[in-house]
This record gives sequence, structure tokens and C-alpha cells, in this order.
Amino acid sequence: MSKKNNYVADSNRYEKMNYRRTGNSGLLLPELSLGLWHNFGDVDNFKNSRNLLKCAFDNGITHFDLANNYGPPPGSAEKNFGKILKKDFKNYRDELIISSKAGYGMWPGPYGDWGSKKFLVASLDQSLQRMGLDYVDVFYHHRPDYDTPLEETMGTLDLMVRQGKALYVGLSNYQPERAEKAFQILKDLGTPCLIHQPRYSLFDRWIEDGLLDLLGKEQVGAICFSPLAQGMLTNKYIKGLPKDSRAVKESPFLNSTKVLEMLPKIKALNEIAESRNQNLAQMAISWMLKDNRITSVLIGASKISQILDSVKAIENTVFSEEELEQINAVLK
Ligand SMILES: NC(=O)c1ccc[n+]([C@@H]2O[C@H](COP(=O)([O-])OP(=O)(O)OC[C@H]3O[C@@H](n4cnc5c(N)ncnc54)[C@H](OP(=O)(O)O)[C@@H]3O)[C@@H](O)[C@H]2O)c1
Repeated sequence: MSKKNNYVADSNRYEKMNYRRTGNSGLLLPELSLGLWHNFGDVDNFKNSRNLLKCAFDNGITHFDLANNYGPPPGSAEKNFGKILKKDFKNYRDELIISSKAGYGMWPGPYGDWGSKKFLVASLDQSLQRMGLDYVDVFYHHRPDYDTPLEETMGTLDLMVRQGKALYVGLSNYQPERAEKAFQILKDLGTPCLIHQPRYSLFDRWIEDGLLDLLGKEQVGAICFSPLAQGMLTNKYIKGLPKDSRAVKESPFLNSTKVLEMLPKIKALNEIAESRNQNLAQMAISWMLKDNRITSVLIGASKISQILDSVKAIENTVFSEEELEQINAVLK
């Protein structure tokens, strides 16, 4: 017997979120977007994944970010997302911005990695199939490939748009110099780059060294990932290491040694956050949103309580000079 789809999105969802224009484009993105890098793989609880997406959408988060390799195993986040779309979001496809990417190793051999046309075309076709979609809203080249001519990689992004398999294209993890060349090629092809996706947080400010200025000048959007430094920029580790946290679970990307090393800074930042009547996660997100060149802050979440907590960041994105100085002093 087939189960009825009972999900009806909160009718107030668009009042709960602010939307920003993505560079010089027609596309508005929510100030917070949700990424599916963790917590959506076959190793994760499907019901929880489903609840995370519903909670996000109920709070006006219209953008879900994926990549070919999210899981584990790689591909399973897209497959599970496809199932949830079918079950719960069938009526909402036109209210969603769904992105995917390719650029990291996905299958064996010389055609399953980097930035060739051969790899990217096959990868997007596979992603569409896994998600059960005709097109993605944004397709990214996931990381620069210095051995493939930029013209080939950008030409492939342009092709995807012309084929109707992607509405917009973006770059991720590109340094400013290569990004600038890529923007020019895309512009010449008639498919301007919509958005750049770099890592950015209070703990990792490399984009302040040229990339943000370039994005502002070129009017390309910015969606910044790991704004909470994978959970370190929250108050969760202050009283110990929770068993169900990313640092304690087996993650190749975050471990308890790293958390303990950062703990003095985390505690000091938490005090500043409390003086602003925020918690650390909220302050870390609102600190990014104070810059209007940032289109969206791309969070992750393992629990719906974290989404509900993090969305409150949009309520206070103004910082006094004194607060900024205090923050900078901690980070020195
Ligand atoms: N383009 C790229 O190369 C690239 C690379 C990485 C990520 N991304 C994108 O960025 C997205 C976000 O990355 P991320 O997961 O590293 O982001 P993040 O927001 O820095 O970290 C998310 C993790 O922090 C913890 N957390 C979140 N909100 C919390 C709260 N309010 N209080 C306490 N803990 C909280 C949860 O971890 P626990 O498990 O500890 O609960 C959550 O899974 C990814 O899903 C992906 O879409 C892109």
C-alpha cells in the first residue's frame, strides 16, 4: 500500500527568512542555505535527513546544496535527496534551488575526477539520475584543475546551461586569479558565473585577501561553506566532546585534537556572542552576513534543533566597531 504524502510546508515560511540577490542576476537566495555533505548518506538515519529538509524549508531555506560525492558512500546523498524530493517536495520543485557539483574523485580511471569535459558531462548526468531531476538550478566546478585548459572546463559549464541541464553555473574553491580568468571566459561565452562557493568562517578568513573584493567587483555571488568551522564555532564543545558530534564520530575532516586546540578561542568568542544576546553559532553566522557581498551562508546540520538555532542569526547582523575589535583580538 503506498503511503500518502502528508507534508505541507509552513505557510509562513517566506516571512521567516531574508533573501539576497545573487551578484548581478535575477536569482534570490536565502541568507541561510542547507548543505547535504554530512547527515544524508546511506550511513545516516533517513527519517532524520527527511526532517532536516522539511525543517529547513519550513523556515524559508529554499536552497539545498549537494555534490556528486556527498554521502558516504559517494552519491548516496543525492540518491536519498531524490527519494525525499519525491516523497515530500513534489509540489515544491519550483520553490527550490538545488545545486550539485563535480571536481573531486568520483569513479576509478582517468575520467572520474578533476575538470575535463568527459568527466563533468557524465557526472552531471549521473547526479540528475540519482536525484530524479531534469535539471539542477546551479552546477559547480567543485575545485580548480590546473592541468585542464580553463576554456575546456568553462566551455563545459556553458554547454550544460545550453543543454538545459543546469540553469546557472558556479565555481568552488577557486583562488582569485584563476576565478577572474574563469569569469571572463564564461562572460564571453554568454553564461556569466552566478556564484562562487568558498570556505569562510571566523576561523578561516582567506577570502578577505582578494576573493571577496573580486566577487564584489565582478558582481558574482558568494555562498560560503563551513561557517561554523564544522561545529567548532558553536557552544557544543565548551563543556566536553559530545558523543554524537562530528569531531567524535569518525570524520576525516574534524577531530577532537583540532577542537581542543581551538577551545580557548571558542570560549572567548562565546563570551562575546553572549554579550550580544546570541549564542556562538548565531554570532558566527551573523558575522558573515554583515557583509552584503555574501549572498548566503551555507550551513550543515545533524539535528533540526541546530537549524532552528542557526536561523535566528538573521535577527541581528549588525556589529559595533568595538565588537569587531574584540572578535579580531581573539582571533589574532
Ligand atoms: N564546496 C566545497 O568544497 C564544500 C566543502 C565543504 C562543505 N561544503 C558545503 O557546505 C555545507 C556545510 O558545511 P559544514 O557541514 O562543514 O558546515 P558547518 O555549518 O560549519 O558545520 C555543520 C555542523 O556543525 C554542527 N552544528 C550545526 N549547527 C549547529 C548549532 N546551531 N549548534 C551546534 N552545532 C551545530 C553539526 O555537526 P554535529 O555533527 O557535530 O552535530 C553540523 O553538521 C556542506 O553540507 C556542503 O554543502 C562545500
